Amino acid sequence: ACWASAVETGEAQMIVAHRGASFDAPENTLAAFQEAWKQKADAIEGDFYLTKDGHIVCMHDKTTERTTAGTAKLNPAESTLEQLRDLDVGSWKHEKYAGERIPLLEEVLATVPQTGKILVEIKCGPEIIEPLRVVLEKSTLRPEQIVIICFDEGVVKQAREKMPQFKANWLTSYKQNESTGKWSPDLGKVLESLGKTGATGLGTQGRDEVVTAEFVREIRKAGIECHVWTINEPSQAKRYAELGFDSITTDKPAEIRKALFGG
Ligand code: G3P
Ligand code: CA
Repeated sequence: ACWASAVETGEAQMIVAHRGASFDAPENTLAAFQEAWKQKADAIEGDFYLTKDGHIVCMHDKTTERTTAGTAKLNPAESTLEQLRDLDVGSWKHEKYAGERIPLLEEVLATVPQTGKILVEIKCGPEIIEPLRVVLEKSTLRPEQIVIICFDEGVVKQAREKMPQFKANWLTSYKQNESTGKWSPDLGKVLESLGKTGATGLGTQGRDEVVTAEFVREIRKAGIECHVWTINEPSQAKRYAELGFDSITTDKPAEIRKALFGG
C-alpha cells in the first residue's frame, strides 16, 4: 500500500497504528510501535510533548497518571527527561510489558522502516515547533515519510510555515448540539480551518453522521487529503475505505488489514 491516490483505487491506502498497536501493547511505547510493524501497519501514529529540559517525548495524556497505573502524576512540561524515563509505562497494560519506558521521538523515528511512515501528533503548544524541526531534520527518514498532525489550528499553521517539507493534517472531532441535533464544526467551518492552517490533510474523527460521501467530496475538491481515526470495527473500516480515505488509523492494524486487504 502506498500513500498516493486512494481516490483512483477506491480503497484506503494506508493503515496507521494508533499509538502503535495499542490494543495489544502499551500505547506510545517502543513495544507498541514494534508490534505495529510486526502487524504490517503502513504507518505508526504517536503523541508528543516537549519536556522541561527540551526533549520530545512520546505520551498521550497531560500527565503520566493513567499509564503508570496511578503511581506517578508527572506533567511533561514540568518534568525532566530523566524523571519521565524513570517511570514504568508498560505494567498498567500487562505485566509482560513491565519496564517499558516513555520513548524519545528519536527512538520512535528509528523504528520506522524505509517503506513506513509516521504521523507525529503534537499534543503541546508551539514551543515544540523549533525543537521538533531540529529532530525531524536530523532524522534519516525522507520528508515524505513524516506527517505532522495536530488539533490546534495555530500549531498546524506554524508547522506548515516552519517545516513546509512535511505534510500536516489538521485534526478535528465533533460535538452534537442537544437541542438542534446539529454537529459542529460543520463542513463550512472545517473547510475554513483547513484553509486557515494551510493543512495538506484533514484528520477526522470517524463520526459517520458527519463524514458522508458529500463531506469527503467537498474536502477533496479543496485539494485536501482525508484521514480518519480511530477505527477498530472492520465494518466501519470498510465504510471509510469505500469513501476513498487516504488512511485509516486503528488500535488493531492486523485485524483491520485483514478486513480490508485479506491479510
Ligand atoms: O490520529 C489522531 C488521533 O490520535 C487523535 O486522538 O486522543 O488518540 O490523540 P487521540
Ligand atoms: Ca494521537
